[in-house]
Amino acid sequence: MLPAAVLEQARDELMDWQGSSLSVMEVSHRSPPYQGLAHKAEADLRDLLKVPAEYEVLFLQGGATGQFAAVPMNLLRKKTRVSYLDTGIWSQKAIAEARHYAAVIEVASGHSSGYRDIPPEFEWQHDEASAYLHYTSNETIGGVQFQHIPDALGIPLVCDMSSDLLSRPLDLSRFGLIYAGAQKNMGPSGITVVIVRGDLLGSAIRQTPSIFNYGIQAAEKSMLNTPPTYAWYLLGLVLEWLKRQGGLEAIAGVNHQKADILYQAIDRSSLFHNPIAHTCRSRMNVPFLIKDTALESSFLSEAKQHGLVHLEGHRSVGGFRASIYNAMPLEGVNALVDFMVEFERRYG
Ligand SMILES: Cc1ncc(COP(=O)(O)O)c(C=O)c1O
Repeated sequence: MLPAAVLEQARDELMDWQGSSLSVMEVSHRSPPYQGLAHKAEADLRDLLKVPAEYEVLFLQGGATGQFAAVPMNLLRKKTRVSYLDTGIWSQKAIAEARHYAAVIEVASGHSSGYRDIPPEFEWQHDEASAYLHYTSNETIGGVQFQHIPDALGIPLVCDMSSDLLSRPLDLSRFGLIYAGAQKNMGPSGITVVIVRGDLLGSAIRQTPSIFNYGIQAAEKSMLNTPPTYAWYLLGLVLEWLKRQGGLEAIAGVNHQKADILYQAIDRSSLFHNPIAHTCRSRMNVPFLIKDTALESSFLSEAKQHGLVHLEGHRSVGGFRASIYNAMPLEGVNALVDFMVEFERRYG
């Protein structure tokens, strides 16, 4: 979801942005008004996340999937090994891509627990010769989320935060680099945020395409080529909306409350269940299963009649999944819980 207030503002400004009688889509990215928009979005993001001055904020294309390749290309820095934690499907995709550029050390894997838990940190096989340690803070499909920042023991920590960046406060100083596709909590698809510590720039491998070269993009203020101007504009509106909500502390409080309501309802139910260890249950994506799988299609079709959509689990895991990103209001979660209770009363 995008916040309704953002969509309404975008609608109202669609044909006439800031009195220009042009759509923001029709404005040159090099023009002073657009440069102002881009500058404001970066300033708001820095403000919300309290980004330390020595970090660069980049707005790129190619999604988080592009970053799966860009991260090793930029951060290998003459080393031959990189370390990755495997907590599920998205970590595995990042690992597969990194293997094109370096030897990947898998420091630990959730495989033995069926990816229902994060392997305890004392079991991780740290490798101090690795260029960095990569993990996925929220496994969007599996519903497994870190509730703390792990220790990389001296090597740069890199994180794919595609599905939980801006959902809670963050101590960026613990990271060498973080990245996230915008389309969960930050805006529409088509724009990707990378925040990288300045000292890690400038050593990309020779073959790195310029558009994926963080040093070049930082020098060009993310405008080496034409950026996704409309996505950047919408991202800026979402950031302004987030500030109006009270920033990350405030939104984290709401996100906590939404997740608690939903997990408590699932745990009380004898028809639905969530298999993930309590300590790492995601506050963004809540997967749940139904005991009698023959009821799955009735659940989805009846939910749709109640205006509750996109509840299918990812095609690779089945079941159901409620994604409750920042823009999902508390009422949306309450409506789902009421529907689940009613469904169980009739079919349970
Ligand atoms: C955690 C995570 N990483 C990476 C991706 C891939 O993102 P993109 O589609 O922007 O390449 C996703 C997409 O859902 C994701 O949830």
